[in-house]
Order: sequence, then structure tokens, then C-alpha cells
Amino acid sequence: MSETKRKPGQKRTPAPKRRVVKIFDTTLRVGEQSPGMSLNLREKIEMARQLERMGVDIIEAGFAISSPGDFESVKTISGAVKDCVVASLARASEQDIDRAWEAVKEAKNPRIHLFLATSPLHMKYKLKMQPDEVYEQAVAMTRHAKRYTSDVEFSAEDSTRSDMDFLARVCEGVVAAGATTVNLPDTVGYTTPEECYLFFKDIREKAPSLDRITISTHCHNDLGLGVANTLAAIRAGVNQVECTVNGIGERAGNAAMEEIVMALYVRKDEYGAATNIDTTEITRSSNLLTSITGVKVQPNKAIVGENAFAHEAGIHQHGVLQKAETYEIMTPESVGLKKNNLVLGKHSGKHAFGERVRSLGYDLTKDELAEAFNKFKILADKKKSVYDKDIEAIVAKEAVQVPKTFTLKKFVATNGSDIDATATVTLVKDGKALKRKAEGDGPIDAAFKAIDLIIGRDFALDDFQLDAVTEGEDAQGDATVAIAGADGTRYSGRGLSTDIVEASIRAYINAVNKMYYAERA
Ligand code: KIV
Repeated sequence: MSETKRKPGQKRTPAPKRRVVKIFDTTLRVGEQSPGMSLNLREKIEMARQLERMGVDIIEAGFAISSPGDFESVKTISGAVKDCVVASLARASEQDIDRAWEAVKEAKNPRIHLFLATSPLHMKYKLKMQPDEVYEQAVAMTRHAKRYTSDVEFSAEDSTRSDMDFLARVCEGVVAAGATTVNLPDTVGYTTPEECYLFFKDIREKAPSLDRITISTHCHNDLGLGVANTLAAIRAGVNQVECTVNGIGERAGNAAMEEIVMALYVRKDEYGAATNIDTTEITRSSNLLTSITGVKVQPNKAIVGENAFAHEAGIHQHGVLQKAETYEIMTPESVGLKKNNLVLGKHSGKHAFGERVRSLGYDLTKDELAEAFNKFKILADKKKSVYDKDIEAIVAKEAVQVPKTFTLKKFVATNGSDIDATATVTLVKDGKALKRKAEGDGPIDAAFKAIDLIIGRDFALDDFQLDAVTEGEDAQGDATVAIAGADGTRYSGRGLSTDIVEASIRAYINAVNKMYYAERA
């Protein structure tokens, strides 16, 4: 939009000030609680670094007391992240809070996030406590957390189904005890936008001390209203929102960060609120999470779905070519979606490759870059055109590699309409080649069975997906495999190759290596 012409000497009219809504990202805590979303330490650190790069204000790194692995990851992220507040969740008990503090105390900006339910249903059946006891515990535990750090968040679990007078009493009590953020979650995704707006207006009136601190919301998506409820809360004065990348989370997930951020960005006129998020990092954050977890977003998902900026209908394509705004309310570039540029060929050198990787925003170590370059060379030999997407697929995987207990040496697979499929696979472990042959229902199944024989374990296959990284006959196959470990934990692996059997084998081995890494930790 062009600026109205100013007369010489006339001062520029200052842009109206917009309030800033803090983004509290809980991808690594509530997101990881969703089925099949277990991340290892390296993956969590990589994701945390990306969240920091993206500009989130607070990273909830985990629930320190829930397992030694969670404690370790909260602690490591606390040491690795400098520009965000790092929070650990804790129930409202001394033991939980002490453990949360142990995990976050080395962070530059640590936060303890404690919670206690306030709805009649939760108090009676889950906590088996009287409202007065809940009040006393909420206040006492906020005070306990406050002994460790000035930054304390209290969440009244199941707020939206709580009695308003009681909730207001708890809010006043925890603010007086030192809470600097009070979060009122819609824990079961029950509220509606109209109700949510009135809820926050009402609670601000009933508990006026909330206006002296940060008021937050945390909306689940059980009725598909997580983002709409979050926006209604912002309109009613909330200044922190809790959300996850790609909307992952328990059950139907949580409010999707990218949708909230872009709604505020595109509809500044409507909400008059901004965030500190660099929107051009949205696509990369979404892709990184997908690549780590192996869980893809649906193609029509707002902002980050494969089709979010695709125009299929001729009439739309024509309109967009004439003027993009006819059918585009935001540009693909504003969310960091790059044109699928032709980048490099088989004669490109290490330096050019390194430059390209850096310009795509990846910061690899020397060894990781060397490994990625090898893979690029192999690919460039097989594939006429190597695109940004190909490079990103290689690099994103390289950035979150776990130690390779097993590597693929070679394989032979046979298949046909009149013969049984067989595969002979040779893996290397501790310098020793291990070879087995198996039959299966197709060459991929046979190869997986041969790997099971080598490893001496029979893995349950939880998921298997095969996609193409780019278009074209020589596109790389991008395989995602999920296997279940002995305790039911799901490990996902990813493999790339222009040969889909090889891509699948590599994905399977990647999942097995992740399992070994987790079991050794
Ligand atoms: O859903 C919920 O209520 C929560 C709180 C602990 C913030 O996750």
C-alpha cells in the first residue's frame, strides 16, 4: 500500500502502537504428549534452537519430574537457549517444583510453570480435594516456586469449566503469592469463541489483580476451535498464548502457533496485536517438526499445508497471475515458503554447496556438512536437477542425526508378478558386515524382514509413508517409517533416495538407530 505523500517538513505520522502478545511454545511439552510424538534429545535441542531463531518468547521444554529423559532435555535446552525464557512444567507439589527448578536453573531466563485443577469435576474426582484445600495449595506452592525464581506461572487446569467466583479467588491468591503469569486453559477444548471472550472479560473484572501481571490462555482443539478461542481471548485482553507448531498436542492437539501468528499478522486491523515471531521461519519450523516426528500435516492445513498456497482452479490461477491479492491474503514468502529454485548440479563444489545450505538457514558442523555434501553428490549423479527442496530434505535430516549403530552397506531386492519378493541386506555394525536374506510381501517388506533378522528383533511397523520430495520422474523418494520399541515407544525414521526401496531401508535403519540411541540413554 503506498504511503500518502507528505508535504516538505511535515512529520511522519507514527504507526499506531500495537500491543505485543507473547508466544509461549509448548511443542516440546504438550506436543510431545501426543501419540507417536516422542523426540530424542538431539531432536529436542534442534527444535528448541529453531524456536529461538523464530523468536518465540517462552519455550516450555518439558515436564522435568515426569522422567529422567525429560529432566535431561529440559536441563540441556536451558543451557542451549539464550534468547527465550525456558520453562518446565510442575504439578503444584514441592517435589515437582524442586525438580523443575533443578532442570531450568542454568537457563538465562528460567521459569517454573506449576498447575492445579480448579473445576468441580477435577477437584472432586481427580484431586479428591475440597475447593479450600485447592486454594491453599495453589497459593502455598506458588510461594514455594517464588523462592527459586521471580518468573512463576500458575495454570488453573480446566479453567473454562470452573466456577468463576472460585477461579477469581484462586487468581487473586496466586498473584498475591507472586505469580507473574496466570494461565487459564481450556484443557478439554470445550469452550467456544463467544464464550471464551466473555470468560476473559469476566475474570478480569472479578480478579482485577490479573491486569497487573501477564494473563495467558492455552486452548485445546477438541472441537476444532483452539485457534478461534485463542484469538477471542486475545481480543478480551490476554497477552500470552500457549500453542504448538503444526497444532500438535494431546488428543486433537493444541492451538496451532502458525495460525495464531498469521491471523494477527494478516488481520492487524481486527486484532491490533502483534507477536515477536519472524513469520518467515514458520515453514522451516513446521518442516523440521515433520521431519523429526515423521508426522505430516494434512495437505489443506492452513499456513503450512502442501496446498496452502496452491491454486488449482483455472479462474483462481488467472486471477493470481493478474494480481496475487485476488486470491492470496498473504504471500508465500511471508511464511518463508521459497520458490523451488534449481540450485546446484553435479559439478558444484563443496563451497557452493555450503553457501547454499547457509542461505537456506542451516548451521551445520563441519562433519555434518561433509556428510550432507556426500549425499548431495550421490544425488546429483542420479538426478538431473537438484532443487532447494532436495537440499533441505538432506540437510534437515543431517541436522538431527543420532549415532549410527547400523549403516547400510548394500542390498539386492527381487520382485515380479510370478515370483516371491526377496531381499538380501548387508548392514555394518562396529565395523562388521552382517548379511541376511528374507522373503516378504513385496521388496520393501522383505528388506525390513532381513533387517529384523540381522538385528535379532521383530519390530512392529507402526507407520510407513512414501512421498516424493519434488515433482518429476527422477524425484527423490522420501520414506518415513515408524517402529514400536519393546516398551511401546514409537521411533520414526526418515530415508531419502531416488530408489524407493533404498529410501525405505534407510528410513527403517534410521528408526532402529534412534531406538538404540534412546535405549542407551
Ligand atoms: O491443558 C492444560 O490445561 C495444560 C496446563 C497444565 C497448562 O496443559
